[in-house]
Amino acid sequence: MIENLINRFMKIFQASEDQIRVFFAPGRVNLIGEHTDYNGGHVFPCALSLGTYAIAKKREDNMVRMYSSNFENLGVIEFSLENLQYEEAHDWVNYPKGVIDIFQKYGYAIEKGFDVLFYGNIPNGAGLSSSASIELATSVLLKGLFQLDTDMISMVKMSQQAENEFIGVSCGIMDQFAIGMGKENHAVLLNCQTLDYTYSPLELEHASLIIANTNKRRGLADSKYNERRSECERALKQLQAELTIESLGDLTPEQFEQHKHLIQSDIDRKRAKHAVYENTRTKEAVVKLQKGDINGFGELMKQSHESLRDDYEVTGKELDALVEAAWAQEGVIGSRMTGAGFGGCTISIVQNDQIESFIEKAGKHYTDNTGLTANFYVVQVGSGAKELTAETV
Ligand code: GLA
Repeated sequence: MIENLINRFMKIFQASEDQIRVFFAPGRVNLIGEHTDYNGGHVFPCALSLGTYAIAKKREDNMVRMYSSNFENLGVIEFSLENLQYEEAHDWVNYPKGVIDIFQKYGYAIEKGFDVLFYGNIPNGAGLSSSASIELATSVLLKGLFQLDTDMISMVKMSQQAENEFIGVSCGIMDQFAIGMGKENHAVLLNCQTLDYTYSPLELEHASLIIANTNKRRGLADSKYNERRSECERALKQLQAELTIESLGDLTPEQFEQHKHLIQSDIDRKRAKHAVYENTRTKEAVVKLQKGDINGFGELMKQSHESLRDDYEVTGKELDALVEAAWAQEGVIGSRMTGAGFGGCTISIVQNDQIESFIEKAGKHYTDNTGLTANFYVVQVGSGAKELTAETV
């Protein structure tokens, strides 16, 4: 596949093969710890083997030319390094452009322009972080082409900042972190307040992780996401009247129960409850996994979904239908929505000898209830963003 992409690059940009470099950033799936990152809690995601490829070559002038095999109808989009404005017409190019802009603001010298072809095999708009993936692919490309003295954690933070400030989505750090710092066959337990992290091997014995896409477009997702953030921020402020805490992630469920009367609105109280309990659940789930208690982990995945459905209210008809379809099947150890919600994907742990019947039966159950068709993917857990060379492919 990489050979084909290089050939495509040479045709589109009329370039020869010398000095072409290849970069890659994965997508991510979160196993547990949802809507906890911007609340100072814990998350437990892993990187996918699916992701975004960037084939690139430096230019001698200041122009940047970008092409995506996923949006061929948009053709080559170009801009100058001196004019890094958000432009509606530049569509997906605003993501890499935002990253270049942030790098420059931090003083990294991008001395020359470049040509780049992107290709991604993450299903689009499915909540598997195709946007964070292109941001990190751009980051490692800039570091590689211009020999920048920066490290992965800085690139993770700059990519998140590009999404927050240039694109205008107030996401937390989970996606960029998982994509930058992912490790093959491991998930990462990240404390989003301190950025302390530990890798945990994904030894599921006779089971596999399966992603199922509801194929429900995530309409209104960004505005609802920002609304949830403000509800939690308001709840935190009211709790801070009596408690010295920096975030909801600082509270145990017991402390929350003692002080929840400080939160005035019923809705804000439910949102905060989810953030606090989900954070505790995530830490407990990782301990269970490390002890080999996969069923215990699966039970906490179920509780996570219920809390996202009843208290955080970000699931919706399709995600609920797909998760219920999964819960009803034999060989399913756990299943929940993953990512921001309001459509997108579920993640399930399924016994290997039941995978085929799971896909068939849960798929049918889902279609019967919603009229939609779900797509299923057996997860291969990959490593973080990097340059692909003869040694790292
Ligand atoms: C999106 C955001 C993340 C995180 C999840 C919910 O993926 O980009 O920062 O908040 O939603 O857990």
